[in-house]
Amino acid sequence: MKIAVPKEIKNQEFRVGLTPAGAQSLVNAGHSVYVESTAGLGSGFSDEAYAQVGATILPSAAAIYEMGDMIVKVKEPLAVEYPLIKAGQILFTYFHFAASRELTEAMIKTKAICIAYETVELADRSLPLLTPMSEVAGRMAIQVGAYFLGKPQGGKGKMLGGVPGVKPANVLILGGGVVGTQAAKMAAGLGAHVTIMDTNLTRLRYLNDVMPANVATHYSTELAIQEHLPQVDLVIGAVLLHGAKAPHLIKRKDLAKMQPGTVLVDVAVDQGGCIETCQPTTHENPVYIVDGIQHYCVANMPGAVPQTSTQALTQATLPYALLLANHGWENACKSNEALNKGLTIIEGKLVDNGLAALFNL
Ligand SMILES: NC(=O)c1ccc[n+]([C@@H]2O[C@H](COP(=O)([O-])OP(=O)(O)OC[C@H]3O[C@@H](n4cnc5c(N)ncnc54)[C@H](O)[C@@H]3O)[C@@H](O)[C@H]2O)c1
Repeated sequence: MKIAVPKEIKNQEFRVGLTPAGAQSLVNAGHSVYVESTAGLGSGFSDEAYAQVGATILPSAAAIYEMGDMIVKVKEPLAVEYPLIKAGQILFTYFHFAASRELTEAMIKTKAICIAYETVELADRSLPLLTPMSEVAGRMAIQVGAYFLGKPQGGKGKMLGGVPGVKPANVLILGGGVVGTQAAKMAAGLGAHVTIMDTNLTRLRYLNDVMPANVATHYSTELAIQEHLPQVDLVIGAVLLHGAKAPHLIKRKDLAKMQPGTVLVDVAVDQGGCIETCQPTTHENPVYIVDGIQHYCVANMPGAVPQTSTQALTQATLPYALLLANHGWENACKSNEALNKGLTIIEGKLVDNGLAALFNL
């Protein structure tokens, strides 16, 4: 199969759909790989690095879409890319269709086969192609939280780990899933005093077993959260209710219970945020202050660390890309239930019931 990788053109998107290592795996399996010139640069991969493993560099997006039986990328196609997509071409990328009727209708019109990373789902309901980005965001949440706790950045002026003789900071993590667990590991590693709250008791038992001694687990209730707020220095919002908006666990009136300069990092911003005063921000202007409390609510945190994110993403997507390339989309989806869940549009037909109901299509 001919697998083609365009350069991402979405604003501030520096990731790329395939690393040179991934390209090499596909070439070794007998496929041809085409990469748009400079597509990998933002992630630290030169054209030469791809050429060395047997990929062919093409000069333009038009050439890439013309060549590829399968397009492997990161973000959903933008309007300028729609006319380049060919009928019967496989598009394997994040689509987030539910957020855009326009994109859904445009992809139906192309008659391409759209397989969405975000809905590939394993039998245990985990989302293997979303997990790596949650891991990045969880770890990054502590890095940015620690930075914005600095006085020059408007924070309290406290170090997460304290120093000998000076108490460490208190970190409260709402949600002990992928984001919350990675955040807890980072904060604990820096020496902070960490509390993870979740409503899933099985998850709390697991976390209690595997986390170091400076991480406590606490069943998440309104009262438990309220009791923590006066002493907390950094809050990480990492709650997810599948298919629903995040619940507001911290309300505007609760901000008055926290000390000025406390930092809130609401990673769940892409689901509406679990902090009522959370509004999406960007890497250019990541924070704002409400009632003396710092809010960091960047909706695409992994975009800031493309060298890490691209590798984390493509090591997760590669097995599925290989399946698609080796067997064709139809046999691959028939043989792999997880991949089949990602299959959303087939040659002009929407095959995802939830999306069809949402848009009445
Ligand atoms: N901002 C970004 O750049 C970025 C990047 C990756 C992920 N995310 C988002 O981060 C959020 C978390 O993702 P995840 O992969 O960790 O999800 P996850 O499903 O692994 O974990 C969510 C956890 O929240 C818990 N939870 C549900 N209700 C709760 C409540 N009332 N109190 C406490 N915990 C509760 C669940 O039991 C679960 O353990 C999602 O909204 C995801 O889309 C954002």
